[in-house]
Amino acid sequence: MTQNSSINSIIEKAEKTHELNKEDILSLLQNRDESIDKEIFLAADRVRKHYVGDEIHLRGLIEFSNICKQNCCYCGLRRENKNVSRYRIDPQIIINLAQKAKQFGYKTLVLQSGEDEYFTEDKMIFIISEIKKLDMAITLSIGEKPRETYQAYKKAGADRFLLRIETTDKELYNKLDPGMIFENRVRCLQDLKELGFELGTGTLVGLPGQTLESLADDIMFFKTIKADMIGIGPFIANEDTPLMECPNGDFDLSTKVMAITRMLLPDINIPATTAMETLKKDGRLIALQRGANVVMPNVTLSEYSQNYQLYPGKSTLNDSEGNIFDELTKDFATIGRTISFDYGISKRYIKNKLTLL
Ligand code: 5AD
Ligand code: SF4
Repeated sequence: MTQNSSINSIIEKAEKTHELNKEDILSLLQNRDESIDKEIFLAADRVRKHYVGDEIHLRGLIEFSNICKQNCCYCGLRRENKNVSRYRIDPQIIINLAQKAKQFGYKTLVLQSGEDEYFTEDKMIFIISEIKKLDMAITLSIGEKPRETYQAYKKAGADRFLLRIETTDKELYNKLDPGMIFENRVRCLQDLKELGFELGTGTLVGLPGQTLESLADDIMFFKTIKADMIGIGPFIANEDTPLMECPNGDFDLSTKVMAITRMLLPDINIPATTAMETLKKDGRLIALQRGANVVMPNVTLSEYSQNYQLYPGKSTLNDSEGNIFDELTKDFATIGRTISFDYGISKRYIKNKLTLL
């Protein structure tokens, strides 16, 4: 077989069987022929259409605190960064923002923050249970916690949890996330899964020292951890961090990791991430045509979210002043897609629940 025909047969296998070994994944990642990459993107788009359809799920994102006790080398919210003005939003205001999002038409909220100890279990349980009364699905993205805390949040009404593994290269993880332990992050993901959360994880693409082989491992990991949602974003260098001089991740490689993930986990939810839009004009719409089916507009008041600077130029879809559903409807129509008005539970999660009954 010529090299191209062997790559084509890997794409075909991924699209039909949703199974690839690490070597196959690596061949796809190593490919530099643009026409072959195009085939990978088209195949991912077909799998997306077949398994999760043409509807795009919107999540209203509330970035409620940019205070973080961690010190990840890539992130602008790291505790040692003194060049960021820190904020936390009062619990009652978070609930008001949720009400506004509900009026705009959102069915799901993502509550995201740094690892901020001010938001104790009691405070979070209050926020979750009040928002739950609005009949919205709640996703938490608030970092590593003990199992008991996750359990309490599930009981209070949280449905989903996002915790990126960031990289499965243990050595790289331990280097870039000083003070954090890879095994504990995996423990968190396992606990969340066992507790019945819809589980979201994901990785950064283009971290300094990251190899294509480790990206192949990342994709294998998504399968073994049985993720229901995967968020992949290119690394973007932040000048207020130790990685300020490192080159940014590559847009096409990030979307290729996403496209392969879609083929191997066909019925999960995959967001077109903000970092993708930040790196490339129309990056969001391109990602939606390479496997993604979720978009997360920001409903945090911009007086706060302007300081949620994980990386520079963060290009959020701001939905805090006026509702942007009409605008999004038009944008999505240009690629033949529509907005979903249901809760957008991952199809994989529903299927697994049903098989457990
Ligand atoms: N570039 C891209 N993504 C980043 N994140 C943090 N810092 C950066 C950066 N410099 C991502 C991490 C984290 C998520 C909330 O933001 O993957 O999990
Ligand atoms: Fe904190 Fe998350 Fe940023 Fe790490 S990536 S410093 S845990 S906000």
